Amino acid sequence: MKRGKKDRTGAAAAFRRAGILGAAVLGACALAGGCKGAEEAAKDSIRIGISLYRGDDTFINNIRQELEKCAKAYEQDTGIKVHLDIEEAKGNQYTQNNQVERFIALDCDVLCINPVDRTAASAVIDKAMAGNVPVVFFNRQPVEEDMNRWDELYYVAVSAKESAVLQGQIVVDSYREEPSLLDADGDGVISYALLEGESSHQDSLIRTEWSIQTLKDAGVPIERITGGIANWERSQASALMEQWLVQYPDMIELVICNNDDMALGAIDAMERAGVSGIQVVGIDGTTPGLQAVESGRMMGTVSSDKEAYAQAIFTIAADKALGRNVAEDIALEDGKYYNCPQKIVKYIKNSYKNE
Ligand code: BGC
Repeated sequence: MKRGKKDRTGAAAAFRRAGILGAAVLGACALAGGCKGAEEAAKDSIRIGISLYRGDDTFINNIRQELEKCAKAYEQDTGIKVHLDIEEAKGNQYTQNNQVERFIALDCDVLCINPVDRTAASAVIDKAMAGNVPVVFFNRQPVEEDMNRWDELYYVAVSAKESAVLQGQIVVDSYREEPSLLDADGDGVISYALLEGESSHQDSLIRTEWSIQTLKDAGVPIERITGGIANWERSQASALMEQWLVQYPDMIELVICNNDDMALGAIDAMERAGVSGIQVVGIDGTTPGLQAVESGRMMGTVSSDKEAYAQAIFTIAADKALGRNVAEDIALEDGKYYNCPQKIVKYIKNSYKNE
């Protein structure tokens, strides 16, 4: 999508759509031609080193695509060349540490790191501090102690509790609208199975806890049939669900999933087994997740605004690279945290049930 000079406010519009536009939020892309400082005027290119914990994660790939769009739009708007060095760490922290070293050796102005092991961010931070290169972490949250080590560290994500409460709300609303959709056997209780992400990921624990708590708080009668860790992965979720369908025949009415890929895995297993009538909810609003909701294969998901997510990462990174004051462009909590907005996406007609 081309963005002409007149469309410079695209980034700000994205933030505005996200409902976070105070006077504070403009977005670096929106600041075309606004770099008046001598230091800024001198720079005609910036280099950003990006390391992803894995390259095959659907959600992370959605963010990567948005980041690439941000860089292109920024170049068109400002005439400043953006070099994005994007690496995938293949789930190996050691590999990621080497990528960080290489980025610093390449003279990157700023790093955007999606940590493999969020509890081991200190090695990345050590290298960044030694090279005086600011870091924008995203999606996998370093521990607070690490985040407090340097004032050039930032973190962008979605609030795990908010995702979970919204996911719970999808079920609560659907149950209130039509109880039989979720209580298929009419015994007055929703029997559910739970698919969880990596046990070390902050989102898994919080999403599981608050999703269930939201149902309890709303007085929805629930009973846990089973649950398991599928590490965010569609294939692992599919294998677990396949097993559960055999182990608990006609018992599961709802599958609550910590993310969309696992929800899709559960649906894959149901489709393979020829089972219908089990409702599935996810979180993320990935491209295939949204398609599944649209077609009625998934009851609903909580969709994070990927454009605003990537824009926040890019805005901080570009500001840092140009020596700008980040606080002027984006409202951060405690000067370093940004939570991206998210919303419920729900299937309206109950065609899935009637398939
Ligand atoms: C997303 C998952 C993703 C994981 C990767 C979570 O916040 O919901 O889809 O696999 O982050 O770290």
